[in-house]
Amino acid sequence: MSMQSHMLRCTGCAQRIAGEAARSDFRCPDCGDLYEVEYPWSESASGTTAKDVPVNRPNPFALRHLWQERRTSTLAVDQSGVWRFRDLLPIVADDQAITLREGNTPLYELPKSAAALGMNWLLAKHQGMNPTGSFKDTGMTAALSVAVSRGFEWVACASTGNTSAAMAAYAARAGLRSMVLIPEGKIAWGKLSQSMDYGSMTVQLRTDFDGCVRVLTELVRRAPIYLLNSVNPYRLEGQKTPAFEMLEQTDWQVPHHVIVPGGNLANCAALGKGFAEMKHLGFISRVPKISVIQAEGANPLYRAMQANGGESLEPVVADTRATAIRIGNPASWRKTVRILKANGGWCEQVNEREIALAKAEIGAEGIGCEPASAVTLAGLKKLVAAGHVGREETAVLLLTGHTLKDPEYTIQYHRGQLFNAAELAGATPAELGQHKAFQKAPLVLDANVDDVLRALDAVAATAGQTA
Ligand code: F0G
Repeated sequence: MSMQSHMLRCTGCAQRIAGEAARSDFRCPDCGDLYEVEYPWSESASGTTAKDVPVNRPNPFALRHLWQERRTSTLAVDQSGVWRFRDLLPIVADDQAITLREGNTPLYELPKSAAALGMNWLLAKHQGMNPTGSFKDTGMTAALSVAVSRGFEWVACASTGNTSAAMAAYAARAGLRSMVLIPEGKIAWGKLSQSMDYGSMTVQLRTDFDGCVRVLTELVRRAPIYLLNSVNPYRLEGQKTPAFEMLEQTDWQVPHHVIVPGGNLANCAALGKGFAEMKHLGFISRVPKISVIQAEGANPLYRAMQANGGESLEPVVADTRATAIRIGNPASWRKTVRILKANGGWCEQVNEREIALAKAEIGAEGIGCEPASAVTLAGLKKLVAAGHVGREETAVLLLTGHTLKDPEYTIQYHRGQLFNAAELAGATPAELGQHKAFQKAPLVLDANVDDVLRALDAVAATAGQTA
């Protein structure tokens, strides 16, 4: 990779520092805001270089061709759906990239959900199809490679489960030691099992995600451990690449809307950066609107947008079964507010029943996702109803995690055991009917063909009634 110089630019006060100069918590010492990676060709860098120093501006036509061509290469960095775009994230040398061949995820059509919404065209970019089953791999390959290049032996993160799974896997590949801090009893089993499987030091703290972040921030101040939460700006360099892929996969036809789940609020910022770079470099002429959907029980951004247009944010005590986004004090909220304003998207909230129904609908498309990802479809329904998303427009849902991350949730839903009494009491009969139509509880039968045939007839008869 041609290693161009990059800087870290504070997104609050625009102060620039060298990559190695960041504090262990990646906060600006002057204003406390977060950094973003800036290259000589970045829009924010224009005017910062002396006139007689030529800036090598990437050429869109050449790059489009090169990025496609790399897909047929046998080199690991070319096979990675993050590093094949390395021309736009020159943060480590080629031989320092730690890759599990992440990225290159499918863009699926969701015909049934589109029809139910009266839309012509609804797509899902399934980031759950990454090596550890979530979108975090794209960011982790980038930031962990930087940790290696800076000579760290230990890396750590606080997590609701997916970041920890990704970090554990990439650290293992790199031969680094890793420590994950997770809230005890509040993460899905699939994710907990992954960090152990990949050999991480797994610490369950008796607190929530926000409490884990507090402990970790102090920990990295006291010990030489590299912080891999999404305050680390290199994570976002990897997480911007699904924006590039999405454009490739739509043949550079920019979708009108991209819908993402909102937790710690880094992913919206990362995709926003990706699309903005594509526009600035001349790959596309406009950017999509990016909307963020939060769970009602973990909705600090939604509240902030309603109360003061995102000027200030009050943390909340978070609670939702979509444990991945059970976050009350999101680190990157300012970055996300800037993207919402720049791109013109919305922030919506959805309740637990809406999330579960949307998850079942995505499952019934033969795709599936974890609960936090399903907020996107639940939120899209609201955006369509409000007239923010037109039925003739194109929307892409960002599905962030694989359905096998949280099988317990799915089983409870289909057995009719997910909702509590208050949630059931709040549902209309029509809504309960919608859930019933999706719920497929397992049948327990004696091992004889007659019983199975009888059950088949019964199911076929009900299908006939509802058809
Ligand atoms: N979807 C899934 C499946 C997630 O795991 C997360 C975040 C999000 C959405 C939200 O993304 O934080 O960038 O707004 N999970 C983090 C973790 C916090 O620790 O795995 P965000």
